[in-house]
Amino acid sequence: MSVSEYAELWEPRPGWLNTASYGLPPRPGWEALQAALRDWQVGATSWEPWDESTTRARESFARLIGADAADVFVGSTVSAALVPIADSLPDGSTVLVDDIEFTSNVFPWKVHEDRGIHVVSAGTADFVDAIRPGIDLVAVSAVQSATGTVLDLAKVVAASKEVGALLVVDASQAVGWLPITVDGVDALVAHGYKWLMSPRGATFGYLSPRLQERCRPLAAGWYAGEDAHTSYYGTRMHLAPDARRFDQSPAWFSFVGAAPALELVEEIGVEQIHRHNLALANEFRAGLGLPPGDSAIVSTELAGAEEAFAAAGVRAAVRGGRLRVSFHVYSTEADVRLALKALDGVRPS
Ligand SMILES: Cc1ncc(COP(=O)(O)O)c(C=O)c1O
Repeated sequence: MSVSEYAELWEPRPGWLNTASYGLPPRPGWEALQAALRDWQVGATSWEPWDESTTRARESFARLIGADAADVFVGSTVSAALVPIADSLPDGSTVLVDDIEFTSNVFPWKVHEDRGIHVVSAGTADFVDAIRPGIDLVAVSAVQSATGTVLDLAKVVAASKEVGALLVVDASQAVGWLPITVDGVDALVAHGYKWLMSPRGATFGYLSPRLQERCRPLAAGWYAGEDAHTSYYGTRMHLAPDARRFDQSPAWFSFVGAAPALELVEEIGVEQIHRHNLALANEFRAGLGLPPGDSAIVSTELAGAEEAFAAAGVRAAVRGGRLRVSFHVYSTEADVRLALKALDGVRPS
């Protein structure tokens, strides 16, 4: 089925061009969430049926990134998911980030400065060249939140391998529209509330088996137990032998909304979503006189754009003084026309 045949699963008000901020829920996710909330309100069920969604979402995420579900943990936020990795770094390690990296992938390293963890940064254009001997860990987004720049992951993998650095990828702005796998990556984390169209609070992390061995499961509680149901009380601790020991006990309803959304992304197909999003982004770029790009996020400097969009009811974002417009599976050519029309008075003629 084509993307347009799935369109009736969303109800966007025209002009939602800000999936880089949050994605809109597809009907299966929305309805599963409403049903769970109704059951919660009256105490209709125990929590276990809600939790089945966590397993489904974990497995779907693993398939989306070409990983084994046993190497995927669940959590609440990107920053919290990175905590065990940052903790595993030896004192004095050097971490390389992009100058404009989203801070949830900067602060988790920087809070270790008091034990000599040194965070250095490089511009997006020079990033691969900055992966030099002495860098112990590279922490970078697959798609930059502020600019939409798509990382050359293959080059970053090769350079990191060459200098023996661990590679940690924040794929929050990528998984769901950009084909990506964990080949050569030590960790990949993604919050699902943007391109995976899930409620906020459903975060996923891949940890390579080698990195799992190095990390302490700092968020372990009952849910990280080998058998969560026999791990409620007492001092006996048997944690899951796989990446599940890094699980943060899940916010049930976030995962209830996440599982159907991730499965729908799989059903439609990331390749197809990628083509759809790029076609719209490039149509928008053409309307602004920009050359075609490779991102679902368009970032451009355009004075007066924010006001023009607000007046026309187009919802986009401004990041670092630049207009940021993002297109996803439910975006249409009508959205592109609406946005370009709104910019009539301010775009270059
Ligand atoms: C690249 C990236 N990572 C992470 C997040 C969210 O971080 P957290 O899950 O820590 O709230 C965002 C939100 O905009 C983001 O753009």
